Amino acid sequence: MNSLKNKSLVSINDYAPEEIELILETAERFEKSPPAGLLSGNVIAALFFEPSTRTRLSFESAVKRMGGRIIGFADAGSSSVTKGESLKDTILTVSNYCDLIVMRHSLEGSARYASEVSPVPIINAGDGANQHPTQTLLDLYSIRKTQGTLDGLNVFLVGDLKYGRTVHSLLIALSNYNTTFNFISPTELRMPDEYKLILEKKGLKYYEHDDFTDIISRADIVYMTRVQRERFSDPLEYEKVKNIYVLRNEMLENTKENLRILHPLPRVNEIETDVDDNPKAYYFEQALNGVYVRQAIIAAILDKI
Ligand code: CP
Repeated sequence: MNSLKNKSLVSINDYAPEEIELILETAERFEKSPPAGLLSGNVIAALFFEPSTRTRLSFESAVKRMGGRIIGFADAGSSSVTKGESLKDTILTVSNYCDLIVMRHSLEGSARYASEVSPVPIINAGDGANQHPTQTLLDLYSIRKTQGTLDGLNVFLVGDLKYGRTVHSLLIALSNYNTTFNFISPTELRMPDEYKLILEKKGLKYYEHDDFTDIISRADIVYMTRVQRERFSDPLEYEKVKNIYVLRNEMLENTKENLRILHPLPRVNEIETDVDDNPKAYYFEQALNGVYVRQAIIAAILDKI
């Protein structure tokens, strides 16, 4: 019995550990043996009310490589939302045309709401500063692929821990794997208390730092993030913190052999471009892993695995 059949993915909390494992195993299988033709006859809608490169295009690639068709918009400005159509009406209309909806929206909670009104499953491709569960699944896949395990790792989350939805979802998921967390951020962008509470309840260790230059030698994973300019109400506040952490090649000397640098991308200035050639840089491979993982999620929801 496939417990993910017809089930929306709104928050990483929607998946039990064994369901996460099913996605990771399926993605691994799809990477080794591409599932061409699996979605023949299926139509997926991708509704992107907010900009995206990787999430939208990797979903599109995932669907097309499985022989499915994809409809939707990359810019809400080209949809009837500009005429005042509500999210509910948009979802009820689009659900007539597809088997599953992938949606990104700026409003926190919009994906949950969409899943409650939609007759077809919803995949949350990011809702405001809240959650980005498919990114988390590809992050877990990338971590396991590079480390050989998800258990007992020392994970550094660096940058905008307040508004960065990817770190929120990732923290929740990794809290199942005895992870030690190091949070590196300026005071204004600290990890919100609700997420620290999750770790405290599970008895997991976390440490907060202003800088990581002197402690990076302990890291298994350094997860860099962009300061989320679009979530700041005061542009001056953004200017103060925008370039606060920049990862440079020399910082990777004397780090662990297994260390990998992840970043959900897009990058602005937080990783110097010469780091890209360092064997410890993994962010472009991470973006590729998104195709296999999103194939696995769609296949599971449409009961094709
Ligand atoms: N990682 C990620 O969500 O990238 P995009 O905003 O380009 O989709």
